[in-house]
Amino acid sequence: MIAITRRETFSAAHRLYNPAWSDARNEEVFGKDANPNGHGHTYTLEVTVRGEIDPETGMILDLRDLRDAIRRTIIAKVDHANLNLDVDFLRGLLPSAENIVVACWQQLAPAIAPTRLYRLRLWESENNSVEYYGE
Ligand code: NI
Repeated sequence: MIAITRRETFSAAHRLYNPAWSDARNEEVFGKDANPNGHGHTYTLEVTVRGEIDPETGMILDLRDLRDAIRRTIIAKVDHANLNLDVDFLRGLLPSAENIVVACWQQLAPAIAPTRLYRLRLWESENNSVEYYGE
């Protein structure tokens, strides 16, 4: 298997809050992340795709095409946005890193077909990231 990774960053605000719970329960589970006015992150999204090496180009795919697809389907919608309110593909989701990365997969996979996604990794901070493999 051979894979290639493109990295993009975006800045966004979110609040971790489950509306089905009391404020006390939200604070107990999410701590400061449940603060009413939210907080921000500079996220890094790593997109890894796999494929075959094209014998004519020596590449799996043109990284510019991958970059454009990521920017069009994800970054344009989430950068400088409030992830609880502003993003169509996150509507109704609690915008944890886990939920965001799964939603990003669903956005991006059809945009790059027939190239297949292998992994999405979303860094929410220098030390914390989540990974999704599509299953
Ligand atoms: Ni956060």
